[in-house]
Amino acid sequence: MTQALDEIKIGGLGASRKRVEDNRFIRGKGNYTDDIVLPGMLHMEILRSPLAHARIKSIDASRAWQIPGVHLVLTGEMMATRNLAWMPTLSYDTQAVLATDKVRFQGQEVACVIADDPYIAKDACEAIDVEYEPLPPIVNPDQAVAEGAPVIRDDKENQADNVIYRWEVGDAEGTERAFAQADKVSRLRLHYPRSHPSPIECCGSIADFNRATSKLTVYMTTQAPHIIRAAVAMVAELPEHMIRIISPDIGGGFGNKVPVYPGYVCSILASILLERPVKWIEDKSGNLISTGFARDIYLDGQVAMRNDGKILAVRMHCDADHGAFFSDAQPSKFKIGLLHSAFASYDIPVGHITARGTYSNKAPGGVAYRCSFRVTEAMFFQERMIQAAAHDLGMDQAEFRRVNFVRDDQFPHRTPFGFLTDSGQYAKCLDVGLRAVGYEDFRRQQAEARAKGRLLGLGISTMTEPLGAGNSREYDILGIKMFDSAELKIHMTGKAIVRTGAKTQGQGHETTWAQIVSHELGIPAEDIVVEEGDTDTAPFGMGTYASRSTPVAGAAVAMVSRKIRAKARKLAAHLLEVSEEDVEWELGRFYVRSAPSRGVTIQECAIAAYSNMPDGMEPGLENTAYYDPPNLTWPFAVYIVTVEVDPETGVWDVLNMVAVDDCGVRINPMIVEGQIMGGLTEAYAMANMQFITFDAEGNCVGSNYMDYLLPTAWETPGFELHSEVVTPCPHHPIGAKGIGECAAVGGPAAFVNAVMDAISDTGVRNIDMPLLPDRVWEALTYRRDVSGAPPVRSDD
Ligand code: CDP
Repeated sequence: MTQALDEIKIGGLGASRKRVEDNRFIRGKGNYTDDIVLPGMLHMEILRSPLAHARIKSIDASRAWQIPGVHLVLTGEMMATRNLAWMPTLSYDTQAVLATDKVRFQGQEVACVIADDPYIAKDACEAIDVEYEPLPPIVNPDQAVAEGAPVIRDDKENQADNVIYRWEVGDAEGTERAFAQADKVSRLRLHYPRSHPSPIECCGSIADFNRATSKLTVYMTTQAPHIIRAAVAMVAELPEHMIRIISPDIGGGFGNKVPVYPGYVCSILASILLERPVKWIEDKSGNLISTGFARDIYLDGQVAMRNDGKILAVRMHCDADHGAFFSDAQPSKFKIGLLHSAFASYDIPVGHITARGTYSNKAPGGVAYRCSFRVTEAMFFQERMIQAAAHDLGMDQAEFRRVNFVRDDQFPHRTPFGFLTDSGQYAKCLDVGLRAVGYEDFRRQQAEARAKGRLLGLGISTMTEPLGAGNSREYDILGIKMFDSAELKIHMTGKAIVRTGAKTQGQGHETTWAQIVSHELGIPAEDIVVEEGDTDTAPFGMGTYASRSTPVAGAAVAMVSRKIRAKARKLAAHLLEVSEEDVEWELGRFYVRSAPSRGVTIQECAIAAYSNMPDGMEPGLENTAYYDPPNLTWPFAVYIVTVEVDPETGVWDVLNMVAVDDCGVRINPMIVEGQIMGGLTEAYAMANMQFITFDAEGNCVGSNYMDYLLPTAWETPGFELHSEVVTPCPHHPIGAKGIGECAAVGGPAAFVNAVMDAISDTGVRNIDMPLLPDRVWEALTYRRDVSGAPPVRSDD
């Protein structure tokens, strides 16, 4: 009879275990960067440019230096003497740390003051006199490539225009041939506007250089501490053991805390110069205006189809506005992230994408905001184009998708742009979603409502997301291969500590990694502590973004547990006095095959590793695993939204939202649901209410929470989640796929498609996000598309 432990009871795989980190978070006992106070600590503030594009004629900091309490004023000129005025970006470009020649976006860092307290530092920033000579600003790709456009990056040799790259993927000729054979071609132009991750906690750092030990310790808000350590080691030419990056609790990241920001660099230099700890904590407008913008891509897309609904080919041209510096953190092989994951849900024989990246006088963009490197744009474009194509063909939305889905028996399936999707049950997910929303019934209600002048709409988004960069063959950042790691130490009492190269920012790793160990070893999850974010203790890893943690670090946790189990088996054989081959495993316990009642627990093996190991065995029970995944994981989701649009005002209300996510095996179903709800909330915000844009002068409009709305529970509609479709990942050790971003990636198209469906009788093909009431009203009233970022009046 089995004596295996009950996995759910011990908090293993599938247990909706309460999040252990919430013990401190909900008590207000988190330890964020700004909570840390070091003896003798000084404070840094940044002076930012009021103009989007201007030559710097002079900077006079003499008044600032004289203010009592000021210890240091850093300017670009001073940084230049230490070769630190510019820094390399994660996309092989350069970025100004403090401006020397020109300012290139509003909010750019011009100078820093380090003082006794932040208020003195702020006052002193205002006492710095900067003389600017304004230059014409560029705020979109059309202006960037217009004849006679000023060259924004005139600091770069060989940069004669504002084009950063031209990139293409796919088969141009094959696509051409397929289009020539099409019965119908559907075309759609879209803009995915700039958006901002806006985590509740802004960016910040405390640099602490100790002259006595020559060691630099930096506490900072980073999602990728090891990458930061590598960057500091390279730029400062310091060995890694002299640099310790500690990423304490993080108040949300969403991609905002991946890049290297000038504030980090300046606080480090200031601490080295002053030999005192220097704290920099960004304020909200600093965060919104200068860090981590995402998206800002224009699409011109075409779908070639047969009359029976089969898609023959797709063609896309994308213009990406990167802002003043090309600083995306993304795999270096792909210039525009994983945009070419578009149409991965569908069996499309051929496709061709061209992409062009341009500079503009905006803060650097292209951050993967809750997104696997531009996959958000890819899936939004995909799902908007699919709806438009079905509509142009006069075919039912759901049926059109069914005709074109990758079928279950087609996996592994090569997408038109070279990815290999490996598993899924796309049609089943759609059926679950349609049933849940009452599809046929809603279509009937919609027709009846329309006859009475009421506008009901239903939007579908069926998307798959490539999650878990990388495999190291294809994925690297600055040449550093994308894999991850886990270290597991079992103490002699059978309690354990696991450390990974990932870094949680609220996703619950402290809870779920313990559950994986629990599943593999039968140690109760409550006996396992998880630590991340300290480069002196955590094994090397590429950090947490692009929902890569479960696919890569989570896999490493399973693999290291299996190494431990292999050693524990030897210990068990020794304790049971049988050969290893005669030992069987069940959760939490080894036993003798021929006498199942004779067994030893994993805890008994643990103590034996320190007190009674066989001759010749290395003592202790600990190990490390580096995991290089063979492929990305491919979660799939169906999001269906129903709305009612008020024809008088353009206001639209969500009637129902159904989400069917298949992320393979769910480690912690409650956490997965939380991730989906959070993602759907962000999707709703992007579709409905958020805009952060730039006027003709390059002023950032929406850089405050009056204009850039973060939805609260009050604004957010209810979501109905379904978890019945589970397709384990074939290569992940526990069958899990990533989930963190899926809903934010696939959700926006469902909302927009629903509104477009509601107004489909008007002939309007597109309203670009956000679908603010005035934009919907404009489309309804004038029966025209509403394109681009919301227009804004400039002050003059
Ligand atoms: O990289 P990041 O942590 O942002 O994303 P993720 O790997 O998708 O995981 C988000 C959270 O959901 C983590 O706590 C995961 O362990 C959990 N998760 C899960 O319980 N089951 C899955 N199949 C995927 C994620």
